[in-house]
Amino acid sequence: MIIMSALPETVSGMAPSANRGDIMEEKIKKDDASRAPKSTKPHVIKPEVTEGIGGKVKVTIDGVELRVPYGTTILDAAKMINVHIPTLCHHEDLCVAGVCRVCVVEVEKQRTLQAACAYPITQPIVVHTSSPKVRRARRNIIDLLLSKHYGECYSCVRNNNCELQALAKEYGVDTYRFGHITERRYELDESSYALRRDMDKCILCRRCVRTCIDLQEVGVLEAINRGDETKIATFMDKPIAEVICINCGQCINRCPTGALRANDPSDEIWKAIDDPSKHVVIQTAPSPRAGIGEEFGLEPGIPLTFEMNTALRRCGFNKVFDTNFSADLTIIEEGTELILRLYNALVAKQPVALPQFTSCSPGWVKFIEHFYPEYLPHVSSAKSPQQMFGAVIKTYYAQINNIDPADIVTVALMPCSAKKYECNRPEMVDSGYKDIDYGLTTRELAQMIREAGIDLPNIPKSDFDDPFGTATGSGVIFGATGGVMEAALRTVYELVTGQIADPDDLAGQVKEIRGFDGIKYKELTLPEKLGPVPDLLKMNKDVPFSDWNWLSGATLKLAVAHGTANAKKVLEDIIAGGPLSQCHFIEFMACPGGCLGGGGQPIPTTPEIRKARAKAIYSEDQAYEIRKSHDNPAVVELYTKFLTDGPVGHTAHKLLHTSYTARGKYIV
Ligand code: SF4
Ligand code: SF4
Ligand code: SF4
Ligand code: FES
Repeated sequence: MIIMSALPETVSGMAPSANRGDIMEEKIKKDDASRAPKSTKPHVIKPEVTEGIGGKVKVTIDGVELRVPYGTTILDAAKMINVHIPTLCHHEDLCVAGVCRVCVVEVEKQRTLQAACAYPITQPIVVHTSSPKVRRARRNIIDLLLSKHYGECYSCVRNNNCELQALAKEYGVDTYRFGHITERRYELDESSYALRRDMDKCILCRRCVRTCIDLQEVGVLEAINRGDETKIATFMDKPIAEVICINCGQCINRCPTGALRANDPSDEIWKAIDDPSKHVVIQTAPSPRAGIGEEFGLEPGIPLTFEMNTALRRCGFNKVFDTNFSADLTIIEEGTELILRLYNALVAKQPVALPQFTSCSPGWVKFIEHFYPEYLPHVSSAKSPQQMFGAVIKTYYAQINNIDPADIVTVALMPCSAKKYECNRPEMVDSGYKDIDYGLTTRELAQMIREAGIDLPNIPKSDFDDPFGTATGSGVIFGATGGVMEAALRTVYELVTGQIADPDDLAGQVKEIRGFDGIKYKELTLPEKLGPVPDLLKMNKDVPFSDWNWLSGATLKLAVAHGTANAKKVLEDIIAGGPLSQCHFIEFMACPGGCLGGGGQPIPTTPEIRKARAKAIYSEDQAYEIRKSHDNPAVVELYTKFLTDGPVGHTAHKLLHTSYTARGKYIV
């Protein structure tokens, strides 16, 4: 009954599906026995319409006739012929909401205007996308949104990249016809290390709600109250830091306005740079390099790694290092940990938590801390590359350069908002100092570069500084989903078999773990004849084996998941004793696509943009001379000179490993 009485609204929250027409028909048949008025039966497939599910339907848009797959929305059909229909609540990654009505169009024979994003074409229709009635309606909607919007575009983080602002421009808004609020209604929520919420700039599009509930399956945000009092809130309307937010920032990436943003430390960083007593060191992760060009008007997928190095020096950073160095270090530490777990399980027959889970995604770590705390023993104790780097800088680097660690300021350029939280975790101070002082996102660095008057795409290139500018292709691919697993395999395969493996040949073998499938699975069988235990591993005198015979012919079972909704599926499968419970090692990344789709990356984000960034990452990997973590001479030197008791040895364990905290499912 409800479905039949108000179709456009009922499309809210439902992704158009191929059999929607059938469901509607069934529903209508049932409701015929009820009180449904005849006039409220739109979108029923009439018997004379032969084009059904799987077929094509004729649609005429602004006089152009085309045939589209049954169930295509008007919005998508219009895109096929390059007809622009404005949107606000619609997002390619999310299910249909149909709440903002900015996309309304006229459909002949329909009494009211229809939301193009929520109207599946199931029978021939004629659509007008910019009739006077449509333009008037859209303009009214925009004016109404602006009347409630505490807009100060020139001081807003989204100035020039705001969908509401763009829409106001598109519709020639030059006056506030319905007024404009000048006083704040809501307090800014600045409680989180990772993100800030300004509900006075919220237009109630609910993209953040759908991101958090549907895409990430965390469920921190929801619309509360009704009418004029409606607002997006957390559980019990608590500050975001007090609820189960995992800091992934995916909501920020999909918010059309400045209502959500990351917590920006650039003022503090400028202050440190301007203080001559401070030695300011920055490390840069692979994904920002693949994404930052978008902030300067380049097409997605054009890496600016070496231009960025020059820009960072011009900004005043004393040293520019490569996070890929510590990604290589992570592979050695986390790989050794995995090998030790396998030995303890297979040979020593001790109770061991397997599969081992990766630990480099702080959004994922917070997710498991909240939702599956009983599985924390499975999470590798290895810190993320960001944190390992900080610990090495404040100890070894400080020593060899004779700098007081108290005077070193470590900045991490990351694609991620959760990294801001991670560097403020109280346990991340093993050297006696914070491993990392500030986490800076790609968007924030782009702003610093603009502020410094640097034309990033057109400045000369320069390399990283030594000694931590030496990295391998394995570190680079950490940026894409499946990259940590592939990097680990490049090293484990070679160290265990003693055979030199061409990364591209190995990539052929492990291609199942590349790409954007939500959950990927791979089995890799080791040869019968294995090599000697490498010297690097033998540095750790506690390693309880002297040959690899116990791994001869073993089949490693591996899985990869990206996005916490997929992580949840994997964990539920493990709990149910499903096939993934037999895995030895599973890579988890909180963000869709892995770090390249992180919450600190340029906005917008779409599947196509993420694919382009991945391409940039893999092509950068190919360009590296050294492509395997254990071949990184700077990493080997670090073990020889500083971490002398080897991987997972005493020093490494103290500085490079950590522990986790079981948290609540509803609040922190
Ligand atoms: S959210 Fe957009 S419209 Fe609002 S102040 Fe910021 S830039 Fe302006
Ligand atoms: S940061 Fe992630 S977990 Fe937190 S509210 Fe946004 S989408 Fe949800
Ligand atoms: S916070 Fe942003 S994404 Fe969420 S409803 Fe408001 S405008 Fe939309
Ligand atoms: S209702 Fe279609 S974009 Fe919002």
